[in-house]
Amino acid sequence: MNAKASLSIVLAAGEGTRMHSAKPKVLHTIAGRSMLGHVLAAVSDAGVTATAVVIGPAADQVSVEAKRWEPHADVFMQSERRGTAHAVLAAKAVLERSSADVLVIFGDTPLVRAETLIRMRQAVADDFSVAVAGFKTTEPSGYGRLVMKQGKLVAIREEHDASDEERAIGLCNGGLMAFAGGTALDILTRIGNDNRKKEFYLTDSVDIACKIGLRAVAIEIEEDDVRGINTKAQLAEAEAIMQRRLRKAALEKGVTMTAPETVFLSADTKLGRDVTVEPYVFFGPDVIVENNAVIHSFSHLVGAHVGEGASVGPFARLRPGTKLGKGARIGNFVEVKAAVLEDGAKANHLTYIGDTQVGAEANIGAGTITCNFDGFSKHRTEIGAGAFIGSNSALVAPVKIGDGAYIASGSVITSDVPADALAIARGRQVVKEGFAARLRRRKDKGTKADDKDD
Ligand code: UD1
Ligand code: CA
Repeated sequence: MNAKASLSIVLAAGEGTRMHSAKPKVLHTIAGRSMLGHVLAAVSDAGVTATAVVIGPAADQVSVEAKRWEPHADVFMQSERRGTAHAVLAAKAVLERSSADVLVIFGDTPLVRAETLIRMRQAVADDFSVAVAGFKTTEPSGYGRLVMKQGKLVAIREEHDASDEERAIGLCNGGLMAFAGGTALDILTRIGNDNRKKEFYLTDSVDIACKIGLRAVAIEIEEDDVRGINTKAQLAEAEAIMQRRLRKAALEKGVTMTAPETVFLSADTKLGRDVTVEPYVFFGPDVIVENNAVIHSFSHLVGAHVGEGASVGPFARLRPGTKLGKGARIGNFVEVKAAVLEDGAKANHLTYIGDTQVGAEANIGAGTITCNFDGFSKHRTEIGAGAFIGSNSALVAPVKIGDGAYIASGSVITSDVPADALAIARGRQVVKEGFAARLRRRKDKGTKADDKDD
């Protein structure tokens, strides 16, 4: 990694009108993380020493998200959208403060990787003043074109301003650029707005650098790294690319997936060694699955920690605050929220467990419900180690079931049950001999009478 100080400026002032959304563009998510979050994570992985984020007016949420990912980031506001160079200069104060090399990254290119940022930095650490990420594509429309002369990058021409000959160039500007610290501010402040859109184009920096005797270089990188997101369709394409990357990384770490293309991961999903994930499983943000656990098909996990060798699903839903101990079992149609199931505890069928502590080896029968909400507030349920909750019981919180206690099936438990006790809270069974047969005879007669009337 490069030891020299470096600064990254992330441009996130886009309105994102083509997303047709109330949400600022860079807050749309890919693999459970905002686009801005992805960019700032890559910036941090690349070992950048300082970060500035340029936001648009009334973008408080963008500022909050920037601080969430990079608490030390300087946030600047570009009050009028007057072009990419104008946006960079909104952060002029940090450029004046330091002579670090500068990376300019667009907040709507969430697939950019740390390796790519490092390559860009390396180019200006060596002997170039400006480095531009170039890529080859079959669909160049909308991108700036890299104009080369005798193998050297001499200009970037925006499509609006390009001649037919320039439009035929296959190498495009990915938007990502690096500037050597010593000359960055000099180049940037020389940029004017003499073009069709009357905007200050960051891309003019190449032409300017060449004219004042400095050198620029194009670094060819993969198209995916600089894929810009302007529409929901492009967001979905980027999601697909990100999912492929995440699945591949999980498989390389020793996760078993028989149909990886059906498993959806979040950028922060952590799956241990020899974890098996069956087809059609969804991992939302903040999930950790320890070694040897199995996640069966059609399960949906968000904010959950699955212990070693535990089993989840099929058709299970783990919501935030779920923690499963070693070898715990959550079966089909079981929902768990803000609950801890200690080692070996089981809830195998048709159950809701919320705001609950379940002791080790406790067994929760089919159809058990923790009634945690009284219409006003949430209450806790505590179930002791080795307790047995008979099927179809309702545990009305707040309530405590002691260690080793036994709850008879179909009980509605409203008060605490001591350890090793049996609680039965249901109507006593009544048997009336011959009643059904008598009833049938009576009904049969009635039917015949009715038939006669017809
Ligand atoms: C830009 C490049 C183009 C390149 C393409 C790659 C310029 C002039 N053009 O074009 O050469 O091929 O990206 O995707 O740089 N932004 C601001 N404030 C502004 C204008 C833009 O913050 O005043 C931000 C946007 O939010 C966005 C980024 O800068 O994140 C790029 O702006 P955009 O308008 O999307 O540029 P393109 O036309 O795509
Ligand atoms: Ca763009």
